[in-house]
Order: sequence, then structure tokens, then C-alpha cells
Amino acid sequence: MNQYLQTAPDPDQLADRLARFICETINRRLSEKDRFFLALSGGSTPQLLFKLIAEKYPLACEWEKVHFFWVDERCVPHTDPQSNFGACKDLMLDHLDCPPEHIHPVDGSREAEKEALRYASDLLAHIPAQDGIPLFDLVLLGIGTDGHTASIFPNSLTLFHAPQPCVATQHPESRQKRISITGTVINKASCVVFVVAGEEKKEVLFHIVTKNAAFEHLPAALVKPENGELYFFADQSAASLL
Ligand code: 6PG
Repeated sequence: MNQYLQTAPDPDQLADRLARFICETINRRLSEKDRFFLALSGGSTPQLLFKLIAEKYPLACEWEKVHFFWVDERCVPHTDPQSNFGACKDLMLDHLDCPPEHIHPVDGSREAEKEALRYASDLLAHIPAQDGIPLFDLVLLGIGTDGHTASIFPNSLTLFHAPQPCVATQHPESRQKRISITGTVINKASCVVFVVAGEEKKEVLFHIVTKNAAFEHLPAALVKPENGELYFFADQSAASLL
């Protein structure tokens, strides 16, 4: 696994640098095939990226050939302000030329365990797979200050290695039900990108990037694409210990 660190002075320039990287990756892969499979995370960090792609890069690649999936989703309706899909749709998808049939959200309004099964079958119905695991071209991840990624939290580490493509999980504090793809899917991707911004992430990012043994129990530290590349895109505040 090759690992790369890309930094930018501030969140806006980080979003721009990451947007260009994603568009370049899509264009490179679309020179070899006619579909690109992208999994997006939620939370606040990617929202600058979504907004910037809509405003500055709507024509930078053939978005109509990209299939959009979600790394994880909160079990809320898409209209809820906490919905990862809802935020991405408002900020980006509604402003790109994306056929609706290429947009594959998790349905957060359904019962979590049932939706995890349905979403897994949706993944497998659309994405080429190996041994029942869908092979994403790019997975975009965030990192929580507790070292969680996707919606796999330190108190449910076993879910990271669950054999199935996605699982129902729960936020350890809020108890909010979530749906998340597993590390089994993440580590099969061709390219995994962490996007990390803010002073509050500097310690966790330091430990994850330097592979500090004391932190190898954290979900984000378990992200090691088997045959893919791993990128950390961080602003200077988050990368200040590296
Ligand atoms: C979610 C995300 C989650 C997120 C981290 C970082 O649904 O919240 O997928 O894994 O990436 O919690 O969130 P921030 O970008 O808001 O710090």
C-alpha cells in the first residue's frame, strides 16, 4: 500500500486541491472504462468540497459516468439536516449532470438492519465485485477525533472487519443509528482518501499517518487498501504535528 500526504494552507484551498485530485482520478480511470464508482462520506469536512465542485468543477470531468454511493448514512430521512445524502444532494448533486439512476443513496428512513441488507445488494447490483465485495474506484473518508471513520467507532471495531459489505451501527454518544460500509469494502478500493481539517484533528491524524502502534486499534488506522493507494488530504492545522 502506497500512502501519500497532501496538505493545503486552509480548508478552502484543501477543498480545491482535493476537488482537482478527484476530477483527475475520475478522468484517468474513465480513459480505461465507462463508469466510475465513488463512495462519499458525510459530516462537515466534505461539504466545502461538494460546494466547490458544484461551483468550480461542474465540467471538469464526465460526472454523468460517475455512480455515487455513500460510505455511511445517519438513519434519518433525506430531508433531515443530518442526512449525509441530503447535504451532498443540495450542495453538489443538484448542480451536476448526474443521471438519477447513477445516484445510490442509503434510505435512512428505513429500519437499519433491513436497509443495510438492501444497500449491500444495491452495491453489488451496480459495482463490479471480487468474492462478493464491491470494488470502488475511490472512497472518500473523514476521521473523527476519536479515530472513527465511516460510521465504524472504536467501541465496535469488529464491524470494521465484518465480512458483509455494510452493517447497521450506532453512534456511541448520541446512540443515533447509522448504516456504514465496512473496512472489508474500504480496503478493496483502488483509492482511499481521508480529508481532514482543523486543529482538533491534529493528534488523531498524527497517530494515524505515523502508524503509531498505540493507535492501531482505531478504525481509521485499520484503513489499509490491499491493492490501492491511500491519501491524506489535510489542512495545515490538522497536519501541524506531521
Ligand atoms: C459521518 C461521517 C463521519 C465523518 C467523521 C468526521 O456521517 O459523520 O461519515 O465518519 O467523516 O465523523 O466528521 P467531520 O468531517 O464533521 O469532522
